[in-house]
Parts: sequence; C-alpha cells; structure tokens
Amino acid sequence: MEDFSSVQVTDGHQAGMAAPFAPHQIIYSRSDERGVILFGNATFQEISEYSWAELRGAPHKIIRHPDMPRGIFWIMWDRLTRGLPVVAYVKNRTRSGRYYWALAYVSPCPGGYLSIRIRPDDDLRATMEAEYSALLAREETQNLKPERSAEAFLARLKELGHIDYEAFMRTALTQELKARTSRLGRTDRIRANALDGILELSQQADDYVQRMAAGFRNIRAEPINMRILSNRMEDGGAAISSISQNYEVMAADMGQDLASLDTGDGETFGQIRSAVTEGHFALHAAEIAMEAALEMTTHREALAGHGVDIDAELALIHQFAALTQHRSVDSLKLIAGHAERLSETCRRLRRRINGLDVVKLMCRVESGRLENPDAALTGIIDRLAKFHLEIDRNLVKLGRCAGGMTRNVKSCR
Ligand SMILES: Cc1cc2nc3c(=O)[nH]c(=O)nc-3n(C[C@H](O)[C@H](O)[C@H](O)COP(=O)(O)O)c2cc1C
Repeated sequence: MEDFSSVQVTDGHQAGMAAPFAPHQIIYSRSDERGVILFGNATFQEISEYSWAELRGAPHKIIRHPDMPRGIFWIMWDRLTRGLPVVAYVKNRTRSGRYYWALAYVSPCPGGYLSIRIRPDDDLRATMEAEYSALLAREETQNLKPERSAEAFLARLKELGHIDYEAFMRTALTQELKARTSRLGRTDRIRANALDGILELSQQADDYVQRMAAGFRNIRAEPINMRILSNRMEDGGAAISSISQNYEVMAADMGQDLASLDTGDGETFGQIRSAVTEGHFALHAAEIAMEAALEMTTHREALAGHGVDIDAELALIHQFAALTQHRSVDSLKLIAGHAERLSETCRRLRRRINGLDVVKLMCRVESGRLENPDAALTGIIDRLAKFHLEIDRNLVKLGRCAGGMTRNVKSCR
C-alpha cells in the first residue's frame, strides 16, 4: 500500500497550523469495507486540500495525523467490523500539513462505512487531546501494540468517569452537538430537550416510588401491633384482629405492586434511562446525517463532473438518516410504554389505597365501639391515616411525572 505519510507538503509555511473548519460545516465521506474512499462531500475535499483524483480510491489514512494514537483506530475498526457505529475525536492532517480536529460519527452502511464529522468545541475535546498525546507517548516508549493501547485508553476513560466506550461516545456526541447548536445560535433542540425532560421526570418518579416503598416497609409492623392489642381486648378484639389481617394482606400486596416497578425485568426507571440515552444517541446521529444530506444537496454542483452518482449518494445518506431516525422513534415508543404502565400503576394503587382507607375506617369504627378505647390503638389508626395521605400525595405526584413523560414523548413526534 502506498505510504501517504510521505505526501509532499505543498505549502510549507502553513504546515502545523489549524485548517479552517467552521462550526456549521459537516465533513462527510464514505468508504468500502477496507476504508478506501469512495465518496466525500465538497467540504471533505476542500478541507483535505486534496483533489478528487487523489482522494477517490485512496485509503482514509491519507488524512491521518501522526499525533493520533493507533489505539483509537483499533477501537474504531473493532466496533465497525462488529457492525457497530463509533464516535471518536480525530485529529486529521491536510495535504499541506495543517490539522483539524473532528468529532467523527462512523457507521456501517451498505457496501462499507460512512463518516460524518463535526467540529468539536466542547472542553472534552481538549481533554481528549491531552489523553491522546499521553497515549501516543506510551505507544512509542512502551512499544504498545494497538490493541494494548486501546485497552489502556479504555481504562483511562473509566478513570475519567466514563463507564465504557459506549457511555463516552454518547457523552461526546451529546455535548458536542449541544455546544454546536448554541454556537450556531440555533434553538432546534426540541427533541433533545424533551428527552432531557423525560430523564428528569423519571428521576423524580423513581424518587417518589422509593419514598412510597419505604413507607410500606415502615408500616408493616402496625397491623401486627394492632393484633397484639386486639388480643388483650375483651369485646371487639376479634373484629379488630380480622380487620388488621385484611389490612396486612392488602398493604403487602400494594407494596409488592410498587416494588415490581423497580425490580427484575420490569426495572422501569433503568429501562427509561437507557431508552433516553439510546434515543439521544440515535437522535443526534440522525440530526447530523440529515445535515450532511442537506449539505450535499446544496453543494451538488461542486460534485458534478467528478464521476459521482450524486443521486445514489443522496439516496444512501437519506436512507441512513431515516434509519437512525427510526431508532430514536423506537426508543420513544419504549418510553411511552413505560410511562403508560406507570400511569396505570398509579391509578391502580390509588384505587387500592381507597380500599385500605375503608379498612382503616372500619378499624376506627370498631375501636369507637369499645367501652374503653385503647390509646395505643387510636395511635396506630392515626399513623395509618397519615400514611395513607402521604401515599396518596406521592401517587398524585408520580401520576403527574408519568403524564409529563407521555407529553414529552408526544412533543418529540
Ligand atoms: C468511513 C471511515 C472514515 C474514516 N475517517 C478517518 C479520518 O477522518 N481520519 C483518520 O485518520 N482515519 C480515518 N479512518 C480510519 C482509517 O481507515 C485508518 O484506520 C486510520 O487512518 C489509521 O491508519 P492505519 O490503521 O493504517 O494506521 C476512517 C475509516 C473509515 C472506515
């Protein structure tokens, strides 16, 4: 294979300087399975400073910058060959030796891979630049193989608070798109904001569920205490004992209903959280894919006469944008399903708390009939009344959260 690192620097005084890559620009390229360039948009060609003749048929490493650690490309190809998209910060080199940083979203597509690059402006880029240079130094001094270097990088990401590469990719894409949108003075973040809102509501909802679950745990002893008291009573004791048994069964049942939101397969909030992150990721991917498509449509003349089937290229990127868009819709559907189930649980539990209220009332009536009502029994009944009120209030708030999630999902459509 040709050694592209030896390509002549045509404009010596520019070498080592930053190449202009504006925030509104999108660099797009498409390759075969080996990474050989098949197509690129006008921005890709212009910024690279290569001619179309030089680019087409060349491997992507034609724009590789020597500051890039090999471990990063190992991660990139490892994911791509497993059919997975990958997001990475990349420092590229132009023909004259200038450089530009990009946040690249690279994904498998029919016939190979495509890459959509935006200009990174978030602080994370600078952090990664420092990390890359430390990694490169380790590759050189410790003679690290790309795979070992990739492992070292993943371990370092963990130290920096990213649990795995997937989490890092999501953070990078989300933060960079946020930075880009605000830099461009755009406000079209309705969907992203709606997803952020869902995350917040789901955290609140989780909180209410935890509070109620703790409430059910705390009152578990009350019906038992009630029974102990009733055993000491001469008249009415039997009625109160059976009422307390009913109460115990009903409350335990409700507690379980509530806990089922939070355990096993029905782990509602964990699933909502991952659907939101998935949704964000797909949404952002679709967003930049659609922008790349738009860029290509506006600059289609620039590609005319270069032997490119621009309509086929446009169809491919549109198809890709539609696919990623579908993935974000799937995540939203999943969230909508969870929100609906949450609302149902709220309605069911509110009906059941009414049932518990009746049992508590019966208990009060029975205790009122006693000749010498027991102060301890009255105390228990009062505590139950307070508990019911708290549960009902929390259920109302939980219901509002679920309703809010449903509305946010709808606003995304
Ligand atoms: C679609 C696609 C886009 C790529 N974009 C870049 C890029 O912008 N910069 C880069 O250095 N490598 C890019 N690569 C990775 C290169 O193919 C190559 O692995 C990398 O430059 C390292 O070269 P090396 O593995 O020969 O050392 C891309 C690969 C694919 C499949």
